[in-house]
Amino acid sequence: MARRMVVVGNWKMNGWVETAQELTHSIITGLKEHHHRSDPCEVVLCPPATCLYPVSRCLEGSMVRLGGQNLSEFDHGPHTGEICGTMLRNVGCWYVIVGHSERRSGCGEDNERVARKMAAAFRDGLQPIVCVGETLDERDQGRALEVVREQMEGLFPLVPHSDQRQSLVIAYEPVWAIGTGRNASLEQIQEMHGLIRHVLCTRLGEDGERIRILYGGSVKPANAKAIFALEDVDGGLIGGASLNSSDFLAIIAAVPDRS
Ligand code: 13P
Repeated sequence: MARRMVVVGNWKMNGWVETAQELTHSIITGLKEHHHRSDPCEVVLCPPATCLYPVSRCLEGSMVRLGGQNLSEFDHGPHTGEICGTMLRNVGCWYVIVGHSERRSGCGEDNERVARKMAAAFRDGLQPIVCVGETLDERDQGRALEVVREQMEGLFPLVPHSDQRQSLVIAYEPVWAIGTGRNASLEQIQEMHGLIRHVLCTRLGEDGERIRILYGGSVKPANAKAIFALEDVDGGLIGGASLNSSDFLAIIAAVPDRS
């Protein structure tokens, strides 16, 4: 089954309104100039919350989509500093990253809360990009597959029963590969993506075949092509390299045409 490839830029806590607009302009211009294929992959930009609206204005009329980096599990009310899914929709978001490892470790997001945030995203009509991945200790202990399986299993009680669940995106990001320049080997990536696909299909049947699984962790122009060629890799979640338009464009250009 052909799944549409997607490349997502996670800008994390970097940039101001002006720099975010400049980066967005260069990406849109680069896509127009360099893309010969009529329908390349889907491209999503996830700027910091303060830049969502200005970036959304820059994206008007382009095929590039906007995403948030996080959302509240609640839909409104006394949650100072939080942003809910309808607010993200209101500034033009289609996607939202949920349960990034930097939030799991830094902000106490456990599997239950990640599942509630995923449910909130679905409730508000956003496509959740749910991150899973093991730490270096867990991999060294031989527990990588078990940890990721557990993170996946925690989602299913709150995955909707409708067709909407096909819009779920999973991002496998081994924690030890994030921002370290050390990416997982092709064998490690395929093994984990294969497991995630197996879990999705066992729990969701045919819908599991349609769900996209992204790889994230030190993806660069030099390694993107080999990673994207793997059978169960449907795109990438890019951190550092998404802050440089030529690197990000080169990563997009490395996406194979699977149509
Ligand atoms: P890097 O690409 O900088 O390793 O970050 C990956 C990541 O965390 C994307 O969400």
